[in-house]
Amino acid sequence: MAGMRVDYDPEFLGAGAFYRLLTAVVVPRPIAWVSTLAPDGTTANLAPHSFFTVACTDPPIVQFTSVGRKDSLRNVEATGEFVVNFAPEPLFEAINASATDFPSHEGEFDAVGIEREPSLRVKPPRVAASPVALECRLHSTLGIGNSTLVLGQVVHAAVREDAVVDGLPDIRRLKPLARLGRNEWGTVGEVHDLARIPYRDWPKA
Ligand SMILES: Cc1cc2nc3c(=O)[nH]c(=O)nc-3n(C[C@H](O)[C@H](O)[C@H](O)COP(=O)(O)O)c2cc1C
Repeated sequence: MAGMRVDYDPEFLGAGAFYRLLTAVVVPRPIAWVSTLAPDGTTANLAPHSFFTVACTDPPIVQFTSVGRKDSLRNVEATGEFVVNFAPEPLFEAINASATDFPSHEGEFDAVGIEREPSLRVKPPRVAASPVALECRLHSTLGIGNSTLVLGQVVHAAVREDAVVDGLPDIRRLKPLARLGRNEWGTVGEVHDLARIPYRDWPKA
């Protein structure tokens, strides 16, 4: 017999507490380490966003969500460009440090001491030590409640050569970090391969 359940009512709990519940159960979340340029063209901003996914495959579009209005969102709206840098295990401390609420004129690349490299197709720089950069042009934004969904068309992907195996980025070499609940972070555990079952092969009753 299944155990008892604890019930959570968003109306009763309130948005803040329900947010903590949601982030504890929508796990693990990949982390988009988003770099942008301020409209002044010099201040390079960097911030992790774990409300992040692929939104469309053709055209290739990724999406992150800004909860509230932050520098990353303001810069994307003003410049129409951003880069999603992959968040790997070795950069754990730097990624967390870049989530500090520095004032807008203090770019996280400089404040945290993160080396940058130029992007190929967009103006915001990439994180030099990150194994993957998805260079994006703003497709659209969608305001919902206290948040803004940012959709960006990927116009270029740059993957470090040593992370590629047989033509594709390899999970064991990428070593992604994930965001969990509370202040928790995760790494990838065992990886299993399992092919999907076409209906024609489904065992008949
Ligand atoms: C692992 C991690 C994931 C985060 N994910 C999000 C997110 O999805 N959306 C968001 O608005 N803030 C998120 N934050 C908080 C922002 O990174 C933080 O508010 C940051 O200061 C925003 O920087 P900005 O003002 O330079 O854009 C996250 C923080 C961490 C450490």
